[in-house]
Amino acid sequence: QEDDFKKVISHAKEYGYVFQSSEIYDGLSAVYDYAQNGVELKNNIKEYWWKAMVQMNENIVGIDSAILMHPTTWKASGHVDAFNDPLIDNKDSKKRYRADVLIEDHVAKIEAKIDKEVEKASKRFGDAFDKEQFLATNPRVVEYQEKASSILKRMGKSLENEDLADVKNLIEELEIGCPLSGSKNWTEVKQFNLMFGTKLGASAESAMDLYLRPETAQGIFVNFLNVQKSGRMKIPFGIAQIGKAFRNEIVARQFIFRQREFEQMELQFFVRPGTQKEWYEQWKETRIKWHNSLGLGQDNYRFHDHDKLAHYADAAADIEFKFPFGFKELEGIHSRTDFDLSSHEKFSGKKLQYFDPELNESYVPYVVETSIGVDRMFLAVFSNSLQEEELENGTTRTVLKIPAVLAPTKAAVLPLVKKDGLPEIAHEIIDELKWDFKVIYDEKDAVGRRYRRQDAAGTPFCITVDHQTLEDKTVTIRHRDTMEQQRVAISDLNTIISQEVDM
Ligand code: GAP
Repeated sequence: QEDDFKKVISHAKEYGYVFQSSEIYDGLSAVYDYAQNGVELKNNIKEYWWKAMVQMNENIVGIDSAILMHPTTWKASGHVDAFNDPLIDNKDSKKRYRADVLIEDHVAKIEAKIDKEVEKASKRFGDAFDKEQFLATNPRVVEYQEKASSILKRMGKSLENEDLADVKNLIEELEIGCPLSGSKNWTEVKQFNLMFGTKLGASAESAMDLYLRPETAQGIFVNFLNVQKSGRMKIPFGIAQIGKAFRNEIVARQFIFRQREFEQMELQFFVRPGTQKEWYEQWKETRIKWHNSLGLGQDNYRFHDHDKLAHYADAAADIEFKFPFGFKELEGIHSRTDFDLSSHEKFSGKKLQYFDPELNESYVPYVVETSIGVDRMFLAVFSNSLQEEELENGTTRTVLKIPAVLAPTKAAVLPLVKKDGLPEIAHEIIDELKWDFKVIYDEKDAVGRRYRRQDAAGTPFCITVDHQTLEDKTVTIRHRDTMEQQRVAISDLNTIISQEVDM
């Protein structure tokens, strides 16, 4: 697993997807830059989400609110008081960790044992293997499951009650050692606020303490009435936003999974009070369908319903994805009640109510939120797509099977040789296609090596111009995933590519 993940990270660098930020200064931890291919993939992910949410739904509109907001926003939202992580230091290694993550990692190890048992049994029983039944009845597995869930329950309770001493006790009872040194010599657990502070204004007296937003959602809440009125929106309706968010995360690891500067795609869906449960279920279904439409494999997703709820929620679930380091949160779906709007009413003194013409009454709407990290979606797509394939001739190929709709470059155009007018035709083809797709030219090395290079870069099509092209205006088009090649007319290329890459 660890090796697979290392391969993902080095492949992302080698093929121009993700670089460490400020690398020439040895980098900045948990901050990353998206490179020439990465930015295309990221933009395509955002567009795929935006189209599904905003373009396809008449009752959803988008906004782009500022990263900097009035500081009272974060008092009202609860972030100043409650957006904390429990922090613990190891006295010997002098390293700092999130106490809950240490415990979760311990639980992940128990869960890995369950996976191993399942794998063993499924090999043993073959087709007759019934996973559900095995999980429910195998004594060892049942014991692991109970242990894992009791640890998580106790941690959830302790955190909810702010019983930080018990979080420390739990770490000691489980004999969790420092991941770096193995030392079990821990300090007390303390709360640490994750918001980044900054200042507005030049002079010391007039300067105002601000925060970089830790979620995009609040920019939507404070604009709720502006959008509702100017767009004449009727409940139920949604406001969507894609933008940067910042959190001073304590643990910097797992590549772009947990960053200090990242991007969110959030929807706040405003509903009549009392209908939130139905909408919450509806959005869970809609969002998992969106994920499945990309074809990364249904088995790679699972729901995790929360027992422990954030300060604003009356129901919450994560969509978890099987990353190279196990199942982890990719998206959150939260029933946020009227917490945010009511609180902004109190702190601002402005009414944030909706007049419902059907009920003939005004109320503060309830909100169902879907929130997904762009970077996590990027990692899900990228890590899932990177595959090593054994070929029939005994060699292996590295291929990045990014869904064609999301692929950074849709096609590479390759002249078989650098003479006889083939490069010129290749450029003509590019000049035609570039109006609709991102396409590139590649003439270096033998064509077989160029195919491999494009496979590894994730390009779904290679178009090869050869001597026959001079005679009949046809080319070969090679499909990345199947490696099949077809002879087609140049004039048909646009249609063939469109069929696979159009959103
Ligand atoms: N407005 C609700 C909210 O922000 P969240 O569960 O804290 O909820 C939502 O965050 C999503 O944002 C997560 O599911 C994850 O995909 C992404 N996310 C959160 N923190 C992140 C981080 N440090 N780095 C990358 N993505 C992050």
